[in-house]
Amino acid sequence: MTISNQIPVKQFPIFIIGAGGIVNSAHLPAYKIAGYNVQGIFDIDIEKSTTTAASFDIPKWYNNLDAMLADATSETVFDLAVPGSAMIEVLEKLPEGATVLLQKPMGENFDEANKILKLTRSKKMIAAVNFQLRYAPFIMELRKMLAEGRLGELLDIEVNVNVYTPWHLWDFLFKTERVEILYHSIHYIDLIRSLLGNPKTVYAKTVKHPAMKELASVRSNIIMDYGEMIRSNILTNHCHDYGKGRQQSYMKFEGSKGAVKISFGVLKNYPEGETDKFEYILTENGKNKTWKKKEIDGSWFPHAFIGSMAQVLLSKEGTINRPDNSVEDCINTMACVEAAYESSRIGGIEPNY
Ligand SMILES: NC(=O)c1ccc[n+]([C@@H]2O[C@H](COP(=O)([O-])OP(=O)(O)OC[C@H]3O[C@@H](n4cnc5c(N)ncnc54)[C@H](O)[C@@H]3O)[C@@H](O)[C@H]2O)c1
Repeated sequence: MTISNQIPVKQFPIFIIGAGGIVNSAHLPAYKIAGYNVQGIFDIDIEKSTTTAASFDIPKWYNNLDAMLADATSETVFDLAVPGSAMIEVLEKLPEGATVLLQKPMGENFDEANKILKLTRSKKMIAAVNFQLRYAPFIMELRKMLAEGRLGELLDIEVNVNVYTPWHLWDFLFKTERVEILYHSIHYIDLIRSLLGNPKTVYAKTVKHPAMKELASVRSNIIMDYGEMIRSNILTNHCHDYGKGRQQSYMKFEGSKGAVKISFGVLKNYPEGETDKFEYILTENGKNKTWKKKEIDGSWFPHAFIGSMAQVLLSKEGTINRPDNSVEDCINTMACVEAAYESSRIGGIEPNY
């Protein structure tokens, strides 16, 4: 899959629906850096609409969706950042042919993802999903190294997260049947798909934690199966409540000619975070050189959000045929998520003790 680095030329007006945590901490800061043209915002909580509009100099806030839709034109780009459970009802109200970026996940399960796909197809929308890790600056650097052939063939991916995540900050998670894979590991599943394509099968085990009993499973092991020669594992423990000293979160990519290790800081010592580290090693004439560090401008949050919206804008202006993160592609990430939950439910092979 090729990912465009192009910058959109046209300044389409963006209308944001939902003014919660992620819009304030990532969408709007990213759009400010990119110079995107945000023109309106609506949240069912009016105070959130007004405070967000004031903080980011958004010209207009709305106290209902109909009022926002009355101001929309064929140029408008909708940016939906409501909880997954509200996604379909909002999409149904958007006009035929609308252009829309949907927050992830694409619905709460594969059935809902398919409903979203059907709805966006029948309304002939340009529709994409905000799986923005694909466009994080450190991932774009990795892609560049892969495209230049410097790492050789990609043979091994490991995502390893051992942190303390204060899930209680997100009220809606207490009501959902799925937490860790659907709301977090989904980013890594999507990233791995964007690098290696669709896996043949998915194995997983996802478990709860006694200190977070009111939530669905919060720790996961996921194997994405790409056959005999590629290992691709995601390991996440969000319940490491033992100080920051041993917290870690990294993605490691090993190729036949070199390797990259990205230690990403956003999850560590949450919400303060730590700085990222991009390290790589290359082989020359059959010999390993030493590990090197590379400074990367920007991080996952908020900079990657520039890329997911860029895909939508580029598609609307006709520079690309369809967003790389289109619903047509992202439905496959949802299929992998569903397979992971199903694998965990079915369980492993019982040893013949
Ligand atoms: N891509 C990412 O990395 C990322 C990160 C965090 C959250 N998210 C996703 O973003 C979504 C929102 O998360 P959040 O952390 O901002 O949650 P939040 O609870 O802080 O904000 C959600 C907002 O949506 C509003 N809302 C609910 N229903 C609405 C409707 N019908 N119309 C308009 N507004 C409505 C709520 O009032 C609230 O302000 C979730 O689906 C979450 O999965 C994505």
